[in-house]
Amino acid sequence: MNTPVSTIQNIGAFEEKTVTLEGWLYNKRKAGQLMFLVLRDGTGFIQAVAFKKEIDEDTWEAAKAVTQETSVRVTGTVRKEERAPYCNYEMGVQKIEILHKPNEEYPISHKEHGPDFLLQNRHLWLRTPTQMAIMRIRAEVMAACRQYLDDHEFTAVDTPIITANACEGTTDLFEVDYFEDKAYLSQTGQLYNEANAMAMGKVYCFSPAFRAEKSKTRRHLTEFWMLEPEMPFVGFDENMQIQEDLICHIVQRVLKNRQQELKLLERDEEKLKTIAGPFPRVSYDDAVTFLQSQGHEIQWGDDFGSPDETALANHYNKPVFVHRFPTKIKAFYMQPDPDRPEVALGSDLIAPEGYGEIIGGGQRIDDYDLLLQRLEEHKLPVEAFSWYLDLRKYGSVPHGGFGMGVERVVAWICGIQHVREASPFPRTIYRIQP
Ligand code: 4AD
Ligand code: MG
Repeated sequence: MNTPVSTIQNIGAFEEKTVTLEGWLYNKRKAGQLMFLVLRDGTGFIQAVAFKKEIDEDTWEAAKAVTQETSVRVTGTVRKEERAPYCNYEMGVQKIEILHKPNEEYPISHKEHGPDFLLQNRHLWLRTPTQMAIMRIRAEVMAACRQYLDDHEFTAVDTPIITANACEGTTDLFEVDYFEDKAYLSQTGQLYNEANAMAMGKVYCFSPAFRAEKSKTRRHLTEFWMLEPEMPFVGFDENMQIQEDLICHIVQRVLKNRQQELKLLERDEEKLKTIAGPFPRVSYDDAVTFLQSQGHEIQWGDDFGSPDETALANHYNKPVFVHRFPTKIKAFYMQPDPDRPEVALGSDLIAPEGYGEIIGGGQRIDDYDLLLQRLEEHKLPVEAFSWYLDLRKYGSVPHGGFGMGVERVVAWICGIQHVREASPFPRTIYRIQP
């Protein structure tokens, strides 16, 4: 009779029973008649112990033969073992089937490697426990986003990646050949999202975004994932409230479901447990005054640099909203504050611990004439935006939304240095391989 197959994650269901695990050898150690094999299957790690006296000759030979990343099917009995490394269970090996033994020694050993080497081997580096933990947390963050929005009357509606013109600015565009024409990879789904919102009510799109920015910071990728909710009849303060609730929901869900991964990453969980509303809301004016008092060179009218964002985040020790930026440094579609048109009803949410801006959002211009004027001021091709102007022609309503960068949120929650580790195959100005 065939033994049942289990994942490592679910192995507890087979306590005191015989089961087969399918995975790879992560590590091994020999101690006399005992061989300790650490297996991984993507859901977890477990130690399997082969005792020479209890197994046949072939199985002992297989235990000796397996090397790092050999793919195997291992059958054995599951015992509870609180002191076992990796998980609370251990397997007593009965049989080992080798599926494939590496042709060469596995290049990523258990010693330290430099970041360049690891990035070159990203396709293999993903098998390392810390990287697997980051990917699981990423999946949890993305699931939490969908869960939150699906539970709050949002409808997921997709927006195109191939677009005819710029959305966020004309400089950071990736151009692609489109038959006889030129097209661009989308920088944001927002403009199409606005059309979707006028049809469907509250909507969100969740997809990759592309920016040909020559930024070399630890916060920038050229391809990243963005969650973009868009909401008709929603005002500026309510918009920020939804962002706050979403971020709290994401952090709570990761703390609840990804304990093991946070431990593996040695994340200081106390810093995440304190994430709760209300998040401070600071006007751009006050933020500039504060930064100047701290000796920063910033002048009213300047955009924030990374050190500015970090100083603000450190001061509040919580995610902090900065709102009402100068209209002239923000995108063409931003609604000017009716009381003070030189500032726009836009906000950035800055993460703690130096992770920078994780959300950008605000109110959109809903007046046809003003939007037309802005398009002209920004020297954008009005004809190409005629469909976008139409949204202000037929039953225009106040509306707003925001965009959350997935990799920045994941980097912050994981406590990792660089956003590139938050993406399975990061694209930066230096690297599109593997
Ligand atoms: O602030 P951004 O540029 O806003 C927009 O694109 C709006 N149209 C979104 C909207 O309102 N629907 O980008 C939003 C977020 C940033 O706060 C940041 O988290 C992330 O996207 N982001 C990047 N992440 C990684 N690498 C980059 N180059 C990024 N650029 C933006
Ligand atoms: Mg922004």
